[in-house]
Amino acid sequence: MKVLVLGGGGREHAIIKSLKKNNKIKDIYAAPGNGGINRDAQCIPIKAIDITGVIKFTEENKIDYVVVAPDDPLAIGMVDALEERGIRCFGPKKAAARIESSKIFSKNLMKKYNIPTACYETFSDYEKAKSYLESDSVKFPIVIKADGLALGKGVIIAENFEQAKEAIGSMMKEKKFGDSGANIVIEEFLTGPEVTVLSFTDGNVIVPMISSMDHKRIFDGNKGLNTGGMGVIAPNPYYNEEIADVCQKTIFQPTIAAMREEGCPFKGCLYFGLILTENGPKVIEYNSRFGDPETQAVLPLLETDLLTIMESVTDEKLENIDIQWKKSFSACIVMASGGYPESYKTGLQLTGLNDQGNCTNKDVTIYHAGTEYKNEMFYTSGGRVLGITAIAENKEKTLEIAYKTAKTIDFEGVHYRKDIGKY
Ligand code: AMP
Ligand code: GLY
Repeated sequence: MKVLVLGGGGREHAIIKSLKKNNKIKDIYAAPGNGGINRDAQCIPIKAIDITGVIKFTEENKIDYVVVAPDDPLAIGMVDALEERGIRCFGPKKAAARIESSKIFSKNLMKKYNIPTACYETFSDYEKAKSYLESDSVKFPIVIKADGLALGKGVIIAENFEQAKEAIGSMMKEKKFGDSGANIVIEEFLTGPEVTVLSFTDGNVIVPMISSMDHKRIFDGNKGLNTGGMGVIAPNPYYNEEIADVCQKTIFQPTIAAMREEGCPFKGCLYFGLILTENGPKVIEYNSRFGDPETQAVLPLLETDLLTIMESVTDEKLENIDIQWKKSFSACIVMASGGYPESYKTGLQLTGLNDQGNCTNKDVTIYHAGTEYKNEMFYTSGGRVLGITAIAENKEKTLEIAYKTAKTIDFEGVHYRKDIGKY
């Protein structure tokens, strides 16, 4: 079997390593992949959003199955285009991917189907948004979100009116996020531990994966700017069976039922970003795909074959699969380039990796997020560079192994958080 994975970050590396455990797969390709993925798959220089290029490659090379991992190809209808050509794939169609690509769509869905989330208002007019912020009904801090995709930067927590006004001005007037910020959501600020739950769903059945905890801020102590994610532990220590039951009944099942009802059943990996508030779990975001870096901590705990699960999602037969997880603990430390998530250097040489881009400790896997391989050396090519994932029997041991490995890897200006999992 020939499989193509679209994307080129740590998430895609984790998906590829997991898929490769199935020996039905004879050839695995990544578009565009990266320097480390190149060790596990054949990387082809086609962008993940290049629908024409992807279809051409898929047909010419007789690819049997395509995994569409990132949000942007999903949002522009990559799955629809592939399916129209009879190519089997994993991921939601464009209409279902709106659950991530439009925050207004997802907020309205939750309101209509009584799925617990933060109270909110939506705006397409700057003056109306400003008047709302001046009204007595608004309490600070308040959360301002661009409607569309904004590389994880479209959420601003404003402490006071001035900050909120600046946020809506940058989104709606200065067009900081282009069309993504033309419409906005202003919502209530929720407090409580954050949990990520990735799930497999074929549109009818939904099976949550092991829970996880991302660390979104760049610096220790949850300080500094929001990033794509600086580290993960799994399972999430705050997410117990009782909460999982509540989420299944009030959030997970109702969400896939709502998507069916709206005529856009969701098939693929549905990501639930939750806050466990005093009044129960609430959704702060949906993503239409595997999370990154969460996938780098969650998939290594999967016992059941990933390809079998993905194909059962495509064939709408997920109910036939019994998904099993290792009873271990996993942690992923993201090594980033100095300056990220703002400007950073690239082309910096990495030391401490073997020729395969890995290390020798069998309890550790190094996922490449932003590297390039040339002249038999690895160089940085992105803001998030590596994800160091360790697995062990408990949290302390896992973190100890992951941090010990991180210390052996270096590049100029490397930055990683030293407090992952220290909640
Ligand atoms: P998002 O891109 O929607 O995941 O938001 C980024 C981060 O902003 C989340 O991980 C939360 O830490 C925070 N956030 C988003 N919405 C809210 C909210 N309503 N209340 C509190 N924090 C929020
Ligand atoms: N780690 C957050 C995300 O994948 O959106």
